[in-house]
Amino acid sequence: MSSLSDSTLRKKIGQLFAVGFHGLTPSSEIKTLIREYGLGAIVLFKRNIQDAAQLQVLFLSTFYLTPIEEAKNAGHEHPLFIGIDQENGLVTRITPPIAAQQPGQMALGATQSIENAYEVGKSTGEMLSFFGVNMNYAPDCDINSEPLNPVIGVRSPGDDPSLVGRISLATASGLRDSGVVPTVKHFPGHGDTAVDSHHGLPVIAKSRSELERCELIPFRRAVAHGIEAVMTAHIALPKINSSLELKGLPATLSADALGILRNDMKYDGVIITDCLEMDGIRATYGTVEGSLMSLKAGSDSVMICHTYDVQVKSIERVMQAVKFGDLSQSRIDEAFRRVKALKQKFLTWEHALRTTTADLSLTNLATMNERHENCAKKVYSKSTTVVRNDLNTLPISPGTSKVLLLTPGGRVPVGGAVDESGSKHRTYLDVLKENTGDKTSSSVTEILYPDTGFLSDEHWQVIKEEADIVILATRNAKEAKEQRKLALQLVKTRHDLIVIAACNPYDFLDDVDLFKTYIAIYEPTVEAFASAVDIIYGKATSKGKLPVASKSDLKPNDNYEIKAYNPSEKDAMIEGITKVWKAALPDYKLQKEDLAKVIDQSHGQHFIAQEKRENGGTIVGFILAYKAVKRGKQSAHIAALAVDPAKQGKGIGSKLLADAREYLYEQHGIKNVPLRSYFPRFWPGLPADLPRATRQFFVNRGYRLTDSNGGSIARLDVKLSADLYQDIRNFKSPQRYLERAAAAKVTYKAITPETFADCLSGQKRNFTHYTGWVETYIALNPEDHPFGIMAAFDENHGSQIGWTLMLSPEDDYVARNWAFPPLAGGGKHLLKTGVIGCVGVDEAHRGRGVGLAMLCHAIEDMRRRGVEAVFIDSTNKVDWYAKVGFSKWKEYFVAEI
Ligand SMILES: CC(C)(COP(=O)(O)OP(=O)(O)OC[C@H]1O[C@@H](n2cnc3c(N)ncnc32)[C@H](O)[C@@H]1OP(=O)(O)O)[C@@H](O)C(=O)NCCC(=O)NCCS
Repeated sequence: MSSLSDSTLRKKIGQLFAVGFHGLTPSSEIKTLIREYGLGAIVLFKRNIQDAAQLQVLFLSTFYLTPIEEAKNAGHEHPLFIGIDQENGLVTRITPPIAAQQPGQMALGATQSIENAYEVGKSTGEMLSFFGVNMNYAPDCDINSEPLNPVIGVRSPGDDPSLVGRISLATASGLRDSGVVPTVKHFPGHGDTAVDSHHGLPVIAKSRSELERCELIPFRRAVAHGIEAVMTAHIALPKINSSLELKGLPATLSADALGILRNDMKYDGVIITDCLEMDGIRATYGTVEGSLMSLKAGSDSVMICHTYDVQVKSIERVMQAVKFGDLSQSRIDEAFRRVKALKQKFLTWEHALRTTTADLSLTNLATMNERHENCAKKVYSKSTTVVRNDLNTLPISPGTSKVLLLTPGGRVPVGGAVDESGSKHRTYLDVLKENTGDKTSSSVTEILYPDTGFLSDEHWQVIKEEADIVILATRNAKEAKEQRKLALQLVKTRHDLIVIAACNPYDFLDDVDLFKTYIAIYEPTVEAFASAVDIIYGKATSKGKLPVASKSDLKPNDNYEIKAYNPSEKDAMIEGITKVWKAALPDYKLQKEDLAKVIDQSHGQHFIAQEKRENGGTIVGFILAYKAVKRGKQSAHIAALAVDPAKQGKGIGSKLLADAREYLYEQHGIKNVPLRSYFPRFWPGLPADLPRATRQFFVNRGYRLTDSNGGSIARLDVKLSADLYQDIRNFKSPQRYLERAAAAKVTYKAITPETFADCLSGQKRNFTHYTGWVETYIALNPEDHPFGIMAAFDENHGSQIGWTLMLSPEDDYVARNWAFPPLAGGGKHLLKTGVIGCVGVDEAHRGRGVGLAMLCHAIEDMRRRGVEAVFIDSTNKVDWYAKVGFSKWKEYFVAEI
C-alpha cells in the first residue's frame, strides 16, 4: 500500500507516462495532464506539425503552460520530455521544408560508415533541439532478417547484426552529442516478423540462443555503451516467457523479456514502451491494463499516443494498483528514479524555457537546414547502390531526350509507423526535370501508375515507341504483387528498363536474369531519389553497398569452422593455438610446453577456428574457456581469445565468442561468461595494455568494463586489478613489520602434514566465496608440496590466523595453474619466479599487521629455497603489497557480460 498522498502519488505516476495529443496547439486535455497528473513526456506526431513557425509556437506554448513556478507547484522537478520518432528516411515526422531530409537507417547501413551515421545523428539532434524536442525514439536497432517485414524494413540498417550495432550506436552518439536522448528500439528485436504490431501481435518463436545469435547483438552493444533509453516491442516470444500461460505475452508486458535487459545485461537506463494503443497491445490485453502490466514487467515509461480518456484511465489504473498493493510502491520509485535521472542528465529549465531569442530565429533555422542538407546529400550519394548494371544502361547517354518515369500513384504497402500525411514539397518528377536543367522541360514525363498496375494503351504506346528511356520506381513490390506484375510486363517490352527500388531493396534483388538495371535507394524520399538520378545521368557513381543479402548470398559466409578443443588431437591443436597466440599476443609470448599445461585440463571448454580443408586446415583463432563452481553454482569464464592477425576483422573472433557462449548456455545453462580466469590463471580481466580497439571489440559485443561495484558502464579508463612482481634476490624484510607481529605473539611457519587440516578449515571458514581458493589449498597437500603454504600462528591460542601460498617454480602445480610468472620479469633476465597467492588473514585478526609480516616470512622462505622473483596475481591491493616491495606488472579491467 502506498503511504503517499493521492495527489503526490498521481504526479509521480504521471511522470512515467508519455502521451500524444491531436491538434496544432496544446489541447486542453494535455494541459490537464501536465497540471493535474504531473505528466512526464509528450510525444509529437506529424499531425501536430504544420510548419516551422507553428512548431516553434507549439513547443514554446507547451512550456508556457508550465512556467517554472507553476510546474514546480504541480510537482514537476524537471521539464517535460518532448519526444518524437525522427528516425529519418521512411519514418520522418519533421519533414522538408521545415527541416532537411536526412537519410534513414538502411541508407546509412549502405554507406557502411559510422562517421556518416554519427553526422546524421548529430544533425538530427541539432534540428530537434532547435525545436525543443529533447528525446528521439530512434535509432532502430532491429535486424531486418525477414525481407517481408512490413513494419521494419528500411528502418533497420540491414540484416547483419554487427553492422546494425555499429550504425545504430553511431547514430545514437550523434543524437546524444547534440543534447537529445537517443532510444534504441524495438527490444528484443522486431526484424524477424511478417506481422505489423500496429495491426496485430507478431510471434517470434526464437530460443534465447537464437536471439543471442542475432537480435540481441546490437542491444548488448548499446547497453554496454551506456545507452540511455530502450523501447520495447509488441511481439510475443513464446520460447522466452517462462511459463505456459505467459507464452503469448508481448515483450512489452513480459518480465521475462525485460529481464534479459535488466538481469542479464544489467541495464539500468529507462525502458519505454512502444505505444500501447497499437493493436499488439490494445487488441490483446487492452491499453489500460497493458499500462499496469508493462510497469509490473519492468518498464519505466508508458507510451499512449492518441486517446485522452485512455491516458487518464491508465494513470488512474496504475494508481489504484499501487494503493491496493497490486503494484509495489518500490517499482514506481524505481521507474521514477530512472526517469528523473535521465531528465537530470539531459534537461534544464533554462533550455526548456527559452523564448524567441536570436538562436531560435527562423533565419538560423534556414542556415542550419542548409548545412544539414549538404551533409545529407553527401551521405545519400554514398548510400545509393547500383545493384546491377548488366547491360551498361547506366549512365544514360547525353543525347537521351525523352525520359519516361513511372511512379506508384496508388496505395503502397507501408508499415503502421509511417505517417504520410502532409504535402510533398518536391516530387520525383521535379527532380528529373531539374536534372535536364529546365524545370518546364517536356522531355520528362511521368505516369503515376495505380495500385492495380494497370496502364492504358496510350501509356503502352509511349513506353514502347516514344520514350528513349523508361525508369520504373517501385515501392515494396515484394508485397505489392501488382507492382511486380507491371514490372514484369515492362521489362518484357523494354530490356533497358531502369528499376529503382524506392524503399525496400528486396523488390527485385533476386531477379538477376530479369531486371538487369537495378538501383536501390532505401527510402522513398525525393532526396534519395535525387542521388539515383545523379547516377543515372552520370553525375555521380554508385558507392553504396547493399546492406542486406540476396538469396544467392545466403551461403555460409566464411571459410572457417569452429571446433571444440579435442584432447585426442592435442598435439596439433596446441601447436596451432601456440602459433596464433605468439602472433596475436606478442607481449605475452608463451612457449608451447607452458601453454599445453594450462590448456589441457578437464574443466577447459575451448574452441578453435580452423580453415575448412579436407585434411584439417590451419588453426586461425581460439578461445580458452573454463568451467568452475562458484557459490555452489556452475559458472564459466573466458580466459583468452585470439585470432591470427592476418585473419582479424573477418568475424572469426565474434564467432568464437558467440559459439563458446552459446555452448556454455545450451549445455550448462550459464548465461554470463565474464572475461577473466581463476585456475589456471591467465589474466584476471581484460588487460589494460591491449590496444583500445581490443577493448572496444569486447564492449561492442556487450562486455561491461565496470568498476568493482559493477556501477559504471563502458568506462574504458578504470583499471581494477593488477598482477604484481618483485625481484627478491636482495629482499630484506622491513623490520617494523616483523617486530610488530612478534610483539603481538604471532609466529610464522610453513604448513606441515600435522597442521594441514587446521589450515583447510581456516580456508573454509573464511574464503569459500572465492572461486577456486579452497580447492587450491586442498590441492597443495604438504606431503606432495612441502613449503607450499606459509601460515601465521597466534601463539596466545595456538591457532592459525593467516595463510599464503609460497610456491617455487619447480612445483608443477605452478606451471599448471599460472600462465604468466615466466614472463613477468620481462624479457632478458628471466628469473626463477615463484608465486605468492591466495593471501588471507582470518577475519577476526585483520588490520593488525599479520598479513604484511606473513608476506615477509614467505618471501624470505622462498629466497632460501633459491626462488629469485615472486609473482602475485589478481589483486586490487596494490598499495598494500607495495609496502613489502611489490610493483605492478600489468593492470586489468573487469569485463562482465
Ligand atoms: C580481439 C580479437 C580476438 C578480435 O578478433 P577478430 O576476429 O578480429 O574479431 P571480428 O572480426 O569478429 O570483429 C572485429 C571487427 O571487425 C568487424 N567485422 C567482422 N567481420 C567483418 C567483415 N566481414 N567485414 C568487415 N568487418 C567485419 C566486426 O564487426 C568487428 O567490428 P565491431 O567491433 O565494430 O563490430 C583479435 O583482435 C585478437 O586476436 N586480438 C589479439 C588477442 C587479444 O588481445 N585478445 C584479448 C585478450 S583475451
